Amino acid sequence: DLEGRVDTSDAWIVERTGIRERRVVTSGETTASLAIAAGAAAIKAAGITPDEVELLVVATCTADQQLPATSAAVQDGLGLSCGALDVDAACAGFVYALVTAAAMVETGRVGAALVIGAETLSRITDPDDRGTVVLFGDGAGACVLRPGRTGLLAFDLGCDGSLGGILEVPVGERYIRMEGSEVFRRAVRVVVASAYAALERGGLGPGDVDVFIPHQANARIVSAACDRLGIPRDRTVMNLDRYGNTSAASIPIALAEACEAGRLREGDVVLLSGFGAGMTWASALLRWEAA
Ligand code: UT7
Repeated sequence: DLEGRVDTSDAWIVERTGIRERRVVTSGETTASLAIAAGAAAIKAAGITPDEVELLVVATCTADQQLPATSAAVQDGLGLSCGALDVDAACAGFVYALVTAAAMVETGRVGAALVIGAETLSRITDPDDRGTVVLFGDGAGACVLRPGRTGLLAFDLGCDGSLGGILEVPVGERYIRMEGSEVFRRAVRVVVASAYAALERGGLGPGDVDVFIPHQANARIVSAACDRLGIPRDRTVMNLDRYGNTSAASIPIALAEACEAGRLREGDVVLLSGFGAGMTWASALLRWEAA
């Protein structure tokens, strides 16, 4: 399809990005509808009921409307009766949302929290721009954090707002503008530095990581980060061949797939690390707590 629309080739896309398939919403599907499906699946997997959810955080940079927040529609769709907010830290958004929710749960003032990453990037991707149209996809993933067992050992959140121009949707424009190679170069650097910062705060090293779940942006970025961290490929979750870059949804989709595939065992050390527009970056070190 893409070869017929822009000057590209399947071979170039696979070789330079690792992406073979992406998912795109059909008419009627929205960021909220994807988030509701993922949220319902997470609530079911956690074995709780919607009324036990006391906080909803939705990470997205593709809100369906400017107002109200996407989380409002998600709260209604899931039949929740709790507070709800959006977090926008682009592709680092899920980890930002997870850390925000975990901090609230750990105060003991809210019970279980539902954290969802959901995007419809196809709506803001220029179909005629070969630099972005081959990368971005739609999707959603979610997890439940429970009181007394959020599993969060340590985290690192960062932002360099002076780099906002390398990946943006300028005011009044519809589509993403991206300096791909600039984002690439910086991404490897910040993911590695952020992952090390979280590990250090948790008193652990790369050798202690059982499962590494990086933001799924480009297979070459993931490989370079793994090499620099010294985390072997067989401990790294990669599914971008099937979804492309789904921004805030990429880490929770990979987390959910790893969980469903039995790759996460009770007590495993799990490292999540993302980066994105802002530029933002975020890493979370978890001790895996099964449902
Ligand atoms: O979630 C965070 C969001 N963004 C990212 O993580 C994106 C990070 N960047 C990337 O993944 C890569 O930079 C891209 C996949 C976007 C581009 O790959 P690259 O290896 O960095 O290519 P490049 O930008 O250095 O361009 C190399 C060549 C250029 O042609 P010339 O100037 O050498 O003739 C590009 O115009 O590849 C060309 N090119 C393409 N060719 C075929 C760029 N996109 C395409 C394409 N098909 N789709």
